[in-house]
Amino acid sequence: MNFTETKRAVLHALGIEEECSGVYAGEWRAAPDGPVIETRSPINDKRLAQVQSARSEEYEWVLSRSRAALAEWSMLPAPERAGAVTCVANELERRKRELGLLISLETGKPRAEGQGEVQEMIDLGRYAAGLGRGRQGGVFPSERRLHRMFEQWQPLGAVAVITSFNFPAAVWSWNAFIAAVMGDTVIWKPSSRTPLTAVACIKIVAEVMESRGLPPVFSLLCGSGSGIGDRMANDRRLPLVSFTGSVRSGRGVAAAVARRLGRSLLELGGNNAAVVTERADLALALKGVAFGALATAGQRCTSTRRLIVQEGIYQRFLASLTDLYKTISIGNPLEDKTLVGPLIDAEALKAYFAGIREARSQGGRVVYGAGKFEPPGLEEGFYAVPTLVEAEPSMPVVSEETFAPILYVMRYQTLDEACAIHNAVPQGLSSSIFTTDLREAEYFLSHRGSDCGLVNVNTSTAGAEIGGAFGGEKDTGGGRESGSDAWRAYARRQTVTINYGNEMPLAQGIRFGA
Ligand code: UN1
Repeated sequence: MNFTETKRAVLHALGIEEECSGVYAGEWRAAPDGPVIETRSPINDKRLAQVQSARSEEYEWVLSRSRAALAEWSMLPAPERAGAVTCVANELERRKRELGLLISLETGKPRAEGQGEVQEMIDLGRYAAGLGRGRQGGVFPSERRLHRMFEQWQPLGAVAVITSFNFPAAVWSWNAFIAAVMGDTVIWKPSSRTPLTAVACIKIVAEVMESRGLPPVFSLLCGSGSGIGDRMANDRRLPLVSFTGSVRSGRGVAAAVARRLGRSLLELGGNNAAVVTERADLALALKGVAFGALATAGQRCTSTRRLIVQEGIYQRFLASLTDLYKTISIGNPLEDKTLVGPLIDAEALKAYFAGIREARSQGGRVVYGAGKFEPPGLEEGFYAVPTLVEAEPSMPVVSEETFAPILYVMRYQTLDEACAIHNAVPQGLSSSIFTTDLREAEYFLSHRGSDCGLVNVNTSTAGAEIGGAFGGEKDTGGGRESGSDAWRAYARRQTVTINYGNEMPLAQGIRFGA
């Protein structure tokens, strides 16, 4: 099937028109004279659809419906809410193929990655459903007689989830499914580069919820970051704003939310490094580095952007990596053999070239790549040749996150030095060490080692599983999503004290009155 046929088939299978509403809260509300987002495929820059986005009327409408839904949803037993999320996960599994393809069409990520993203949602749904029966609350010994003290977790309210283009569906599900099981309702503002995937997700999920007679727990507000996103950040009715995106935008969101003493959950930039030591299994390291640097064309928050290699194996490893880069198939992400698809848009391609220019001007040496790739018939797409640049840790460009397949390669002598280079950037999301030496691995895992939220030994910086907490430190923003105890962010902790006696003993031995 060619592009147009695939697009038609996918939209048809998902029940989406080429002109559709991007506003949902129990029903779809089109704003015919409102702003429209035109979404184009980075595969060939052809139009995919026009999504009608929200004006202020729709914003208010969604907010009031979502808050109204909260009254009913938050009072259902958590296992019942979890039951609905399980059905949502099952439905996503049934629709995995077409939703995954739409993700590939809209983001340009290879087929396998589009399918993998939907799998991540399914897994997350099932994980979140488990929390509906298993989440913990502490019980504490009371110092007073015939008293009981414990904690419980209440829903927070209607929460906002603002997501970026690179994981246009999975990141929403990390937030939305867990929040929903906690009893919240969720208002989603997707990236304006990927509204169609959001429309498709909400369509699938809404059918499940509607068929079970449930209120609009998952709603959608397509629109711009400066319009809808800013409004959410400043809106006191939204106790939590979860934001995934750039450090620059994240700072704005954090400041606005903090001003009203709300809660923000930030997943901002990464500038992740892999350290390869002389004791590494080099064949394994090669695969791990290549996947980290090239998956999603280097447009993951977790992409490997810096490679720090011990001196003794530096030349050999760089030569092998260069050889590997030469064999990587770039091109149409709908073809099975493709490993690297296009960048998201023309701006991204510009940023790729600007990054390389900057690196060169600061003394970097391009070893491989640095060019636009033009697959036959797809000359309008935004394909970049994966690039290797020999760099020095002191070059300012090495501290910047360029969302493109550029890998800065540096050398080190001692592991202490490698860790210093590793930690010398403002971001702190993901990190890897490749070594078969237990001592080296443990050093990297010690306080003097990686300062990131995610640390990997002999595996890639990218491709984290859903079961652990996902997020990072420093400019990455400190948020944690997905597994472990990340659910706490979506709930309000309440410490409860019950007196079941006939007297009124006070804590701290205080006597009050007779
Ligand atoms: C992101 O890039 O924002 O760890 C998320 C990974 C994926 C998620 C990345 N599971 O690479």
